[in-house]
Amino acid sequence: MVLVGFLQAQNCTNLPASWRHPESRTDFLSADYYRAIARVLEHGKFHLAFFDDRLAMPDRYGNDHAHAVEHGIRCVKLDPIVVLMTMGMASRRLGLGATCSTTYYEPFHVARLFATIDLMTDGRSAWNVVTSLNDGEALNMGRSEVMEHDLRYDRADEFMRIVLGHWDSWEDDALIVDKASGRFADGAKVHRLDHRGEFFQSRGPFTVPRSAQGHPVIIQAGQSGRGRRFAGRWGEVIFATAPSVESGRRGYAALKDEAASAGRDPDGMLICNLITPVCAETKAAAEDKMALIQQLPLEIDQLSLLAEALNFDFASKGLDEPLTTEELASFSGLHTIRDRVLAVSGNPNPTVREFMQISHRGRPDDAIVGGPHEVADALEEMFVERSCDGFVVAATHVPGGYADFVHHVVPELQRRGVYHVDYSGATLRENLGLPRPAIGAWKTYSPSVAVSP
Ligand SMILES: Cc1cc2nc3c(=O)[nH]c(=O)nc-3n(C[C@H](O)[C@H](O)[C@H](O)COP(=O)(O)O)c2cc1C
Repeated sequence: MVLVGFLQAQNCTNLPASWRHPESRTDFLSADYYRAIARVLEHGKFHLAFFDDRLAMPDRYGNDHAHAVEHGIRCVKLDPIVVLMTMGMASRRLGLGATCSTTYYEPFHVARLFATIDLMTDGRSAWNVVTSLNDGEALNMGRSEVMEHDLRYDRADEFMRIVLGHWDSWEDDALIVDKASGRFADGAKVHRLDHRGEFFQSRGPFTVPRSAQGHPVIIQAGQSGRGRRFAGRWGEVIFATAPSVESGRRGYAALKDEAASAGRDPDGMLICNLITPVCAETKAAAEDKMALIQQLPLEIDQLSLLAEALNFDFASKGLDEPLTTEELASFSGLHTIRDRVLAVSGNPNPTVREFMQISHRGRPDDAIVGGPHEVADALEEMFVERSCDGFVVAATHVPGGYADFVHHVVPELQRRGVYHVDYSGATLRENLGLPRPAIGAWKTYSPSVAVSP
């Protein structure tokens, strides 16, 4: 069972209300805050700490940021890669992942950033590949609106070929560094990419040799049809959402099929379902904790996060007003939220309130609440029923949400033999059981690209 911490370099967890939790630390602008989280996760032998990212404040609601600032709705967002390095320096085995968008950065830049982190952390890094989703990000990054959903993924496919191509530029034995002969590296073993494609050009040669784990692990979380095709082709760790064991099983099988049809070994992909545990020494104590947590969210938290995720101004509608067919079609962000609300409500024109109630965005309503046995039972069932290979664990508050999980649930999972008792290797790939990729391995599942010899 793989465990990943779902982290945010910001003033709250992915629940905006978390900063109001009495036990939340408020020094989220300090390195010590992130170091403390890293220590808790490493103590619990988490495989990976992963930071999400968004390149804008949630200001789609009412086209204004004031509500986000007033209520602390993720209005602080630090650069996750810099914060990641801070955590890397405070840990020895914990994997370190950060999100970086293929829509707003150049592939050469992203390849160099993550290859460098991989070296600086002795082979523990991972990149969460996202295509970004709303106009706020576009406006901050020099565009007028977000690019169309499927086109973002077409562009991301080409982006991946460039990044992986650059990561393969230095053969594993290219470096010589022999002071006596004066040979630094073998010129025949460092290659230029010379990529000229539909969306990008990048020449090379790349300037960072390969790391202990070959190259960073690729994380992906696409959920739409197009997104899952992308995840099936490139993702090594996949984040998924599964409202039930049965839907998780279907999603798991479908994603593994995507990998197989892309020509990959489906076992080279680890699927982690998103969970929010609320745990304590007993079920009753956990329920008390949950009762407090459920008091914290505000209506505006939900409205603001829905507006930014769906790229639609929910302030333009009354809470009980149905969304028109045209409005629903105009949503350009996370289509999966819209499609789930349509499916669950059975209403072709759901109201804003239905979006709030069904999506739970900004609320902890789908938390797994219990003592060590109840939480471990729920996780073990999803795991053994092949609904997932592990979990991406969100926190109701930090670092306490993780500390509770590590203290109460991790030992129970270890006792049951479903979770490792210690790290088995030095690199993230070794700990995940993923092979070190041979140079050019990715070309077997993306054959359309030529890398110059
Ligand atoms: C656990 C998890 C973490 C995610 N982190 C980010 C993130 O940091 N930034 C982002 O823009 N999208 C993030 N996403 C959204 C996905 O990248 C993806 O866009 C979304 O699941 C919808 O799928 P689609 O792009 O195929 O429509 C995350 C999704 C999940 C499930």
